[in-house]
Amino acid sequence: MSSTPVVVALGGNALLRRGEPTDAATQRRNVARAMTSLAALAARGPLVVTHGNGPQVGLLALQAAAYDDAEPYPLDVLGAETEGMIGYLLEQELRNVLPGREVATLLTQVVVDPDDQAFTRPTKPIGPTYSERAADELRRARGWTVDRDGTSWRRVVASPEPRQVVELSTIRLLLAAGTVVICVGGGGIPVTLVDGQVLRGVEAVIDKDLAAALLAVELDARALLLLTDVTAVQDGWDTGEPRPIRRATPDELRARKLAAGSMGPKVEAASRFAEQTGRAAAIGALDEAELLLDGVHGTTVACR
Ligand SMILES: Nc1ncnc2c1ncn2[C@@H]1O[C@H](COP(=O)(O)OP(=O)(O)O)[C@@H](O)[C@H]1O
Ligand SMILES: [Mg+2]
Repeated sequence: MSSTPVVVALGGNALLRRGEPTDAATQRRNVARAMTSLAALAARGPLVVTHGNGPQVGLLALQAAAYDDAEPYPLDVLGAETEGMIGYLLEQELRNVLPGREVATLLTQVVVDPDDQAFTRPTKPIGPTYSERAADELRRARGWTVDRDGTSWRRVVASPEPRQVVELSTIRLLLAAGTVVICVGGGGIPVTLVDGQVLRGVEAVIDKDLAAALLAVELDARALLLLTDVTAVQDGWDTGEPRPIRRATPDELRARKLAAGSMGPKVEAASRFAEQTGRAAAIGALDEAELLLDGVHGTTVACR
């Protein structure tokens, strides 16, 4: 068994697919599929599982807005809720497919810079999809920023750069004990360090792919796998004839300017990991984790 972990990032949109009902049973079914795929990885060595929360955090924000006797909870608190909710589903299914293996879900805070430009330019889609007209209505009624996501519209919020994983030493301790660690959910709970030491939550959602890359670099991971609802990065995605990219360098992928709210951050995350560790990252389907690790499916991102 290798001693350095594989870091896996699960897509929030893959756990709650676009257009699917957003209930717990649907999510549990998708989680079960994904965990079967991860069990094979866990059998091969240390494993860290991170996950997105875009659809889920947006759903919580909507539920909060339905009750108007209390100010809606801010996004850092909702982020923590999604780490609990999604983490619980992942942990339970992982334990079911990995009898005898310890699995722990860790609430994780990630430090961002309060002066990050992202706070003046929201880009991260959260919550369900809307028609253009419904999105316009929400923009007026709630003061949200909305933007196009594929063929529909979604709320977008600030997505600052992840700088530091607060609970990094605890993650290392758990890994050293052989525990599968579920952490940095939803990109981590966004916090700032006031006067260099006091943690305070901020109103943002950190990109889970970039946070997973930061974590994978900090852990000196053996590989970073970005699992989503497509089998590979496609060349000519929005032409009628997309072609899967099997292998590319960070420079080749960055030159393609991929979709900012979806594939862009995955490619950037994979590129950062490849550049900073010299090892390969892969992007591909949620249920093909082992094939991605072995480089036989998906898109492998490596410096040469
Ligand atoms: N070049 C591309 N190749 C493949 N998928 C792309 C590309 N550009 C945009 N996408 C979109 O990226 C989506 C995956 O990213 P995203 O929706 O953020 O999922 P996740 O929740 O897994 O992070 C795909 O479902 C696809 O619609
Ligand atoms: Mg995404």
